Amino acid sequence: MSGPVALSLDAVHGYYGKSHILQGVSLEVRAGEIVCLLGRNGAGKTSTLKAASGLLAPRAGRVRFHGTDLTGWPAHRIARAGLTLVPEDRGIFSLLSVEENLGIAERRGSPWSRKDIFAMFPRLEERRRNGGAQLSGGEQQMLSIARALLSGPKLLMLDEPVEGLAPVIVEEIVGQIRAIRDAGVPILLVEQNLAVCTGLADRHYILELGRVAYEAGNADFVADDAARDRYLGVKAA
Ligand SMILES: Nc1ncnc2c1ncn2[C@@H]1O[C@H](COP(=O)(O)OP(=O)(O)O)[C@@H](O)[C@H]1O
Ligand SMILES: [Mg+2]
Repeated sequence: MSGPVALSLDAVHGYYGKSHILQGVSLEVRAGEIVCLLGRNGAGKTSTLKAASGLLAPRAGRVRFHGTDLTGWPAHRIARAGLTLVPEDRGIFSLLSVEENLGIAERRGSPWSRKDIFAMFPRLEERRRNGGAQLSGGEQQMLSIARALLSGPKLLMLDEPVEGLAPVIVEEIVGQIRAIRDAGVPILLVEQNLAVCTGLADRHYILELGRVAYEAGNADFVADDAARDRYLGVKAA
């Protein structure tokens, strides 16, 4: 099912000032995959996504995307290459309507049209004249993902897309993430909700203190109570 390597991080080191936060992160995402990046709070998950997207310049190591070494590229250039981050704060314009938010994200050449977006996110069509600030948390998350799709991503990185959302909305977004992957966009997903991770992902990486401490395919991870307990501090259900 999975194909050639789309994104790879090879021994990436990252700092905030003098704090050495990423201590040699290596991972890869292949065509057709959803890959989960797990780890306790402060492990470096968001920083890893920032390093891949150029928001945190790697001090050492390489980031490669479809064969191109884009280490050190500025964030806007990385985004234009199709490596697209949906940040935790969602980054939508609260004073603009749903339609206006989508309008400024649209890019010529993207395979995703507004019609595709409304088919995938019917709630956004219902709310298309509402302002960003009037949307529920789940709708804001959907708008944020929809905006990313309109830019024509070749890989999406999602930072805790379902955090704090009601279970029924989580289900909806999980289905949408799967549909995006099925439409040909591989996904690197940072997520704390284990059920969401094991329900979606083909493979998992667990970060600990800025390093990958564990890596497994989904079936092995689901069967590995000890690893979940050790690295995430969650007992088997
Ligand atoms: N802008 C920043 N400046 C300084 N330290 C930061 C900054 N952002 C994150 N950190 C620190 O880096 C570590 C990793 O953070 P982060 O990547 O956000 O972890 P996670 O997403 O896994 O919770 C934490 O110790 C955090 O306090
Ligand atoms: Mg984080």
